[in-house]
Amino acid sequence: MSEALKVGVAGLGTVGAAVVQLLSKNGGQLARKSGRAVTVTAVSARDKSRDRGFDVSGLDWYTDPVEMATSADIDIFVELIGGDSGPAEDSVRAALKRGVHVVTANKALLARHGVDLAGLAEDNDACLNYEAAVAGGIPIVKTLRESMAGNDISRVYGILNGTCNYILTRMEADGISFEDCLADAQRLGYAEADPTFDIEGNDTAHKLAILTSLAFGTKIADEDIYLEGITSITTADIQAADELGFRIKLLGVAQRTDTGIEQRVHPTMVPKTSAIARIDGVLNAVAVDGDFVGEIVLVGPGAGGNATASSVVADIADIARGDATPVLGMPASDLKDYVRARMRLHEGGYYIRLSVYDRPGAFAEIAQSMGAAGISLESIVQKRHPEEIPPAKRDAETPQPVILITYETTEVAIKEALDVIMSKGVVAEKPQMIRIEKLN
Ligand code: HSE
Repeated sequence: MSEALKVGVAGLGTVGAAVVQLLSKNGGQLARKSGRAVTVTAVSARDKSRDRGFDVSGLDWYTDPVEMATSADIDIFVELIGGDSGPAEDSVRAALKRGVHVVTANKALLARHGVDLAGLAEDNDACLNYEAAVAGGIPIVKTLRESMAGNDISRVYGILNGTCNYILTRMEADGISFEDCLADAQRLGYAEADPTFDIEGNDTAHKLAILTSLAFGTKIADEDIYLEGITSITTADIQAADELGFRIKLLGVAQRTDTGIEQRVHPTMVPKTSAIARIDGVLNAVAVDGDFVGEIVLVGPGAGGNATASSVVADIADIARGDATPVLGMPASDLKDYVRARMRLHEGGYYIRLSVYDRPGAFAEIAQSMGAAGISLESIVQKRHPEEIPPAKRDAETPQPVILITYETTEVAIKEALDVIMSKGVVAEKPQMIRIEKLN
């Protein structure tokens, strides 16, 4: 067996500590599988005195990760610091520049600088592996980069944020408010340091930007993602979805269309019968539609120290074996420019929840506005008032929930119809609109 591969780990939080522990526990079998022993020789973190569950005394300690990347005697620099700039970016660049391989879990860094860093890695004959950056423990990067290399991919989509999936699952299962579910997710350690990144969809968007590039061979375009988080979803929507045969999931979707590639992150109605609808709690799932293989769905833990460490170590094992797959599946210079399909041209079915004044003709006004925009309705339901006021006593000024499901139409038609409905004064508040995803 050749000389042991020397690894430096920058960032000793939950994931960093789990990587060190995994290598210590399963290092023997990893060496047999990859043909080379792997040993952590250097670490970087701010506080040396903190108990991390392993002995740091024999390791080279660096408080500055850039210094470790620049001068430590290592073959692989593992970046687990986070953030799309600052020490994370500086240390990754420093390592690559001197030909040290990099393994990172940093989706924000890849989403922003991925193509540039891929070029830097190629120029210096270094690997840049990032399985843990997308969907934690799920091997989706390897699947797209290697296993599906022979397929023409038409769509990749998934539940890419465990915090949001946990919140939506609990809102449905326990009827608990969004705020209470978020507080629980934070307590359980699923959420990002700033949870707005989870609930507003930015975390999903970072991961989707990487998946899009891998699936379609395009440059990463993280700024060209249509983004809507889950903060406007109410228990009324979740209950209505249930009654109509759907569940609500925050999906990241990248899809080829006639005018370009759609990249969108938004709450989505998915049929209860679909595989993605059955993914509960903190789990992630990614589905890929390939022209020869058909649809494959990968499910697993998208966050957490051990699951993320599993992917980090798989990346290390690839390097130990001498595998050097191009960072984004092909040389960076061969990646095509990303052509954005405009969201206004998006086609699909829609769920609309309106808060309608209970006046004669209100229903007709709504149906007429939809018809005028060329939208055909699959169903329209006026729900009973939640407080069950007997109809005879109903106050015309008390708004009632009306739920519409449309047949396939365009985003621009929906927006036009909703603008008209709002201008007619028949609704008490801004309509809720949730896209329905066509799934098997
Ligand atoms: N905060 C993320 C999630 C985990 O909830 O899925 C890491 O991306």
